[in-house]
Amino acid sequence: MAVVYLLLAALIASCHAQATSGDRPWPASLAKLAKEGKLRTDSNATVPASMDFGNITSALPAAVLYPASPGDLAALLGAAYSTPGWPYTVAFRGRGHSLMGQAFAPGGVVVNMPSLGDPGAAAPRINVSADGRYVDAGGEQMWIDVLHASLARGVAPRSWTDYLYLTVGGTLSNAGVSGQTFRHGPQISNVYEMDVITGHGETVTCSKELNADLFDAVLGGLGQFGVITRARIAVEPAPARARWVRLVYTDFATFTADQERLIAPRPGGAFGPLSYVEGSVFVNQSLASDLKNTGFFSDADAARIVALAKERNVTTVYSIEATLNYDNATAAASVDQVLKSVLDGLRFEPGFSFERDVTYVEFLDRVHSEEVALNKVGLWRVPHPWLNMFVPGSRIADFDRGVFKGILQGADIVGPLIVYPVNKAKWYDGMSAATPAEDVFYVVSLLFSSVANDLARLQTQNQRIVKFCDSTGIQYKSYLARYTNRDDWIRHFGSDKWKWFVDMKNKYDPKKLLSPGQDIFN
Ligand SMILES: Cc1cc2nc3c(=O)[nH]c(=O)nc-3n(C[C@H](O)[C@H](O)[C@H](O)COP(=O)(O)OP(=O)(O)OC[C@H]3O[C@@H](n4cnc5c(N)ncnc54)[C@H](O)[C@@H]3O)c2cc1C
Ligand SMILES: *[C@@H]1O[C@H](CO)[C@@H](O)[C@H](O)[C@H]1NC(C)=O
Ligand SMILES: *[C@@H]1O[C@H](CO)[C@@H](O)[C@H](O)[C@H]1NC(C)=O
Ligand SMILES: *[C@@H]1O[C@H](CO)[C@@H](O)[C@H](O)[C@H]1NC(C)=O
Ligand SMILES: *[C@@H]1O[C@H](CO)[C@@H](O)[C@H](O)[C@H]1NC(C)=O
Ligand SMILES: *[C@@H]1O[C@H](CO)[C@@H](O)[C@H](O)[C@H]1NC(C)=O
Ligand SMILES: *[C@@H]1O[C@H](CO)[C@@H](O)[C@H](O)[C@H]1NC(C)=O
Repeated sequence: MAVVYLLLAALIASCHAQATSGDRPWPASLAKLAKEGKLRTDSNATVPASMDFGNITSALPAAVLYPASPGDLAALLGAAYSTPGWPYTVAFRGRGHSLMGQAFAPGGVVVNMPSLGDPGAAAPRINVSADGRYVDAGGEQMWIDVLHASLARGVAPRSWTDYLYLTVGGTLSNAGVSGQTFRHGPQISNVYEMDVITGHGETVTCSKELNADLFDAVLGGLGQFGVITRARIAVEPAPARARWVRLVYTDFATFTADQERLIAPRPGGAFGPLSYVEGSVFVNQSLASDLKNTGFFSDADAARIVALAKERNVTTVYSIEATLNYDNATAAASVDQVLKSVLDGLRFEPGFSFERDVTYVEFLDRVHSEEVALNKVGLWRVPHPWLNMFVPGSRIADFDRGVFKGILQGADIVGPLIVYPVNKAKWYDGMSAATPAEDVFYVVSLLFSSVANDLARLQTQNQRIVKFCDSTGIQYKSYLARYTNRDDWIRHFGSDKWKWFVDMKNKYDPKKLLSPGQDIFN
């Protein structure tokens, strides 16, 4: 199937390539970009833009734009909008960390966003405000770079993703969730303002006060309304270190009750002291290797947990992962004391709490060392049939029974299974991102890697999981999914939000040219 798609895309692309040099030349504004070597149709440009992290589908674009400035991007989008018979869709490729071709433009133009930040860019692409209240970052910037630039001024963004080699524009087009989401909301709840070049080629500054409809549409908007060239992101004084803990459970209800206790707002709305709360699930058949793959547990810790599972005769082990950030002025004894007061209220297996103490950057950048290790043994560039969903809190126990203790029992699993609750009150429903209709819902990320030529098996397994949720009426929302038919998208957004989403599309990208890889309007 993927091969057929690739051949077809290549065929379409080659037709377009002829068209550009023959009967359909680039409009004058783009001929200049082509002449400057910024708009390329050679395979060294198009082949890398035809693949993504998912490594499951691929599709060749006709051309790739390497913009040296937002002006080059505005020229492309302006030409696309105003040229009669313009035949190319346009996708914005952050780092291509999408799973199913969401940043592809089959037969169209892919914009290589990182070019905006190339050394030699006319102006700095990350600026911390003088009052240290926010950081302005180019949409192409990776979060790891935003972090370092902010730290140099003693501040840091407060809401993150687990992995930082993703772009600001890419995560804000989805939501951007991690263990900080429960208290700060997703990354899309931590943006003050953006510059967006719309499908008309116009540069629009938007915020809650200014062009609010564009602001809300773009956040979680799957690249449908324009390209984010700058985002103004909330920051806080940077913590220096993180006390990082993992707590082990053998009972799902106890595990989730403790998670929900940790993320619950107190009367008055303030949260407890923890900075980050996530959780993972380990199924028995790969327990020992999965524990080691966290990079957190020592071999001796892992052996103790395996023995515990055996003693308890359980097929599934759960672990809360949490951090307590602190600054250089905080005495170690006081960190110990605060942490102890939190842990004293929890019901993990006695003796099964594990602690590490790391710098804030070591904690935030924890997945990168995994990437380096997996890359070394050829296990990073493999198919990633990931399944990400938001599951209503009232149904998470059913999900455990049907999926962790059901479908996944006995299956070969490579990759982490992540489960943690967040507060819906920290999301703004007027934005494009879709979430379940409950105060607490769970981020469920089943991050499977296919390392044994077993992609088809894993995809079938994902279908079984989705079918299980559908047949038992679990009102989940997909995250990072690509649906291929209109009805699924309508169901995803719900009819009210869908209607608004279509209105916004008609207003900001009436020719339906942007981010075709999401398969919403194409
Ligand atoms: C290892 C790994 C870990 C991850 N962990 C998390 C996590 O913890 N939490 C989480 O929320 N997500 C996570 N993700 C998913 C991540 O948010 C998505 O992959 C997202 O697409 C960002 O990747 P990217 O910047 O490379 O964007 P791309 O994949 O290149 O683009 C994604 C979509 O956004 C559009 N787009 C890109 N840039 C812009 C822009 N500037 N303006 C408008 N539209 C744009 C594209 O056209 C495309 O439709 C993870 C992904 C990986 C690979
Ligand atoms: C593509 O890259 C290769 C290797 O760097 C180079 O030899 C070749 O000339 C390039 N082709 C084009 C069309 O740029
Ligand atoms: C998957 O990745 C491999 C290794 O980089 C690459 O050769 C292959 O073409 C990719 N397949 C798809 C469908 O992207
Ligand atoms: C950073 O500041 C410079 C100087 O004011 C400005 O030219 C540039 O556009 C800013 N960059 C961003 C991403 O806001
Ligand atoms: C904390 O102290 C360490 C060691 O002295 C120093 O390297 C680091 O920059 C400090 N961090 C902050 C945020 O002040
Ligand atoms: C262990 O659990 C299994 C299934 O849950 C059960 O059939 C078995 O009897 C249990 N063994 C012991 C020793 O309790
Ligand atoms: C869990 O795995 C261990 C080691 O593979 C095995 O000995 C044990 O029987 C399994 N336990 C259950 C309950 O399946």
